[in-house]
Amino acid sequence: MPLASKEIVAPDVFWVGSIDWSVRVFHGYHTDEGTSYNAYLLMDEDVTLIDTVKQSFSQELIERITQVTSLDSVKYVIMNHAENDHSGALPYVMTLLKNATIVTNKICMEHLLLLYPELRHYPFKIVNNSTPLVLKSHTIQFLQVPMLHWPDSMFSYCPDINTLFSNDGFGQHIACSERFIDQVPLQDHVLRQMREYTANILGPCQVPLQHALKCIESIQIDTILTGHGCSWRDASVQLALSEYSIFAQNKQLKRKLSIFFHSLSGTVKRTAELLAQQSPIQIQMHDLTIDDLTKCALSAFDSEYIAFGSPTIYGQVTPLVESTLQYLLNLHLFKSRKVILFGTFSWADKAVIDMKQLIKNGGGTVVSEISFKLQMNEKIKEQIYEDFKLIF
Ligand code: FEO
Repeated sequence: MPLASKEIVAPDVFWVGSIDWSVRVFHGYHTDEGTSYNAYLLMDEDVTLIDTVKQSFSQELIERITQVTSLDSVKYVIMNHAENDHSGALPYVMTLLKNATIVTNKICMEHLLLLYPELRHYPFKIVNNSTPLVLKSHTIQFLQVPMLHWPDSMFSYCPDINTLFSNDGFGQHIACSERFIDQVPLQDHVLRQMREYTANILGPCQVPLQHALKCIESIQIDTILTGHGCSWRDASVQLALSEYSIFAQNKQLKRKLSIFFHSLSGTVKRTAELLAQQSPIQIQMHDLTIDDLTKCALSAFDSEYIAFGSPTIYGQVTPLVESTLQYLLNLHLFKSRKVILFGTFSWADKAVIDMKQLIKNGGGTVVSEISFKLQMNEKIKEQIYEDFKLIF
């Protein structure tokens, strides 16, 4: 089937990426709405491809390039990041782009050669912040943004068209036929997807994000072309920058309590519901047998308060609670949050102790511990009431 007509997304820039409508798991991240792998072709006498796509979409990338130009005219392939969703097609593409040189930073080249040893047969040009790529009618500058979210991550910037190629930065896992957020009817939904992506991918990257924002604060950006989902142009550029700035300063936190629980006999669930009834602030409730880690991370992302509940089973916290707690800790989602722990036991009072230790190891602050044997009683209800009066 022929591809849809070629799409221009900035002056001299064509989108040549792929939409992955059906991917549902992306290294553990549940991509309920699919994703896209965005690649771009900058038309110059020295034609330049910016990023590639996942390996399974290699042929589609080639077809999109040939809609715009001949394969022999491509002189450079800029790789902003080596992860396989952006690089998987590179080995195949390079067999067809006979005149192309791969342009990237030193760490990214090392990663690419480890991932695809056959690339050693092709020329590389190593760039950094002080070595722009000068084309016939455009210049591309490079901004290293290490750990956003790999050590090799960089942005490419073309000052001639005020366009930033941000790869994973400012992206969302969403498959849609629109290229820009201003074309989508539900823009809040795109922002929500961006927050989910940020929570699950960039959670530990607040300091690298601050660095990246500093790198781009003095350049004129009319368009941000992302590696995933919708891109940003004109007024929406400020929206994207502002979202990242809020997260870089942890200012997304609001008076919200996210309650995560795993109930085996119903007692922990009833306790979670009691906490929800007593809470004077917004609640988001997550039964861990239903809600996945991706959604849990999004919920914790803007919550100032987090509660975890587990029964003690086989002398410890349940594996489901332990793994969820660990996932959120790995994503630094307990930073600056206040934590409430609740648990039940039959003879060994251990679940809350285990959770407290995990939280302590991850630098969180526990503000309330509620643990009781077998059945909630009035004394425990009174404790919850008194604790909540102090916490909120
Ligand atoms: Fe979209 Fe880090 O890859």
